[in-house]
This record gives sequence, structure tokens and C-alpha cells, in this order.
Amino acid sequence: AASDRDTTIAHADWEQLEQMVSVCTACQLCQTRRKTVFGVGDKQADWLFIGEGPGAREDTLGEPFVGQAGKLLDSMLQALKLGRNQNVYIANIVKCRPPNNRNPQDIEAQQCRPYLLRQIALIQPKLIVTLGKVAAQNLLGSGDSIASLRGKLHEFAGIPLIVTYHPAYLLRSLTDKAKAWEDLCFARETILMQQRK
Ligand code: URA
Repeated sequence: AASDRDTTIAHADWEQLEQMVSVCTACQLCQTRRKTVFGVGDKQADWLFIGEGPGAREDTLGEPFVGQAGKLLDSMLQALKLGRNQNVYIANIVKCRPPNNRNPQDIEAQQCRPYLLRQIALIQPKLIVTLGKVAAQNLLGSGDSIASLRGKLHEFAGIPLIVTYHPAYLLRSLTDKAKAWEDLCFARETILMQQRK
């Protein structure tokens, strides 16, 4: 059964939601975070990118993907003729930085999930693109590798979902950069298909 907290979050508007996140103490990450990282972008975006969680720089600035990985993400968006505020919204599985950039624990992701669900419901994106293993596995409830999850059309909360590599990983892997580009082309096709319906 949904808790009162879940119900409140599920009915929040953008302002209320952002406010709730900014003072959230639902998991232990609140004890070590500096800033919460709510998400950024176009609230009516077709594309919703979901990463893992804030790193050091994001924790300092309160914005997702502002480090090296973020620069790569920005150039990927640019190649698609998209931008941070142009038909794109960027969020994370957890809104607070896990200490030393460890993976979020299941309980942390679970406690944070209602915020992400509300963001998805408010945006109603045409497509979700998960960045990296943690986001993919968390949203799909799967233990499979990116290599086996990518190239397929999945679904989350009634929205088509495509899996690709994390930009931080792509900074180190040229071969998988080419695969990530394939994933983004697949993603663009998926969005175009829906517009034709
Ligand atoms: N990596 C992520 O997964 N999310 C961010 O916001 C930054 C780096």
C-alpha cells in the first residue's frame, strides 16, 4: 500500500516536488549531501535521460551532469540537435550524492523512486534513456549487463525505455562510444515512430 508520503509526492506540482526534494531526509544520503540534485531541463521534453546519482561536482552545484561526463552528454545531445533545455530533461535515480560516488543502495533508490515517478508523470516524455548500468538495472528490475539490455525497446511506467552506456564510462571506451551512438539513433527513431502514430 502506498504511504502518505508516496501519495503526497504523487500529487505534487513541480514547485512542491522540488521543495520536498530539497529538504528530503527519507534516506541516509541526506546526512552527507551538500546540495540535492533535483533535475534540469524542459518540463515538456520528449527525451528523459536518467543517470545514477550526483557526483562531487553535482553535489556542489546542485545540477546533474555538470562534470566531465556531463560535457560528453552535452555533446551527445548537441549531435542530436537537442540541448539541456531543448526537448530534454535530465534526472537521476537518486537525488543526493552517495559518499565517495559508491552505487546507490536499493533502499536509497527505493526511497527516492516516488520523486522520479512524479517527474515522469509530470513530463510525460516520449522516451526514457537510461545512462549506465545502475539506472538501467534499477528501472528495469534486472541484473543484466548493459551489453545485453541495449538495442532493445523496454518500458518503464508505460513509457518506452532504451538503455545506453554511462557517459563517464564512454570517456574511457572508444568502441562503446560507437555503440552509444547507435543507441541514440535507435532512440531518435523510436521517438519519430511515435510521432507518426
Ligand atoms: N553521473 C550521474 O549518473 N549523474 C550525474 O548527475 C552526474 C554524474
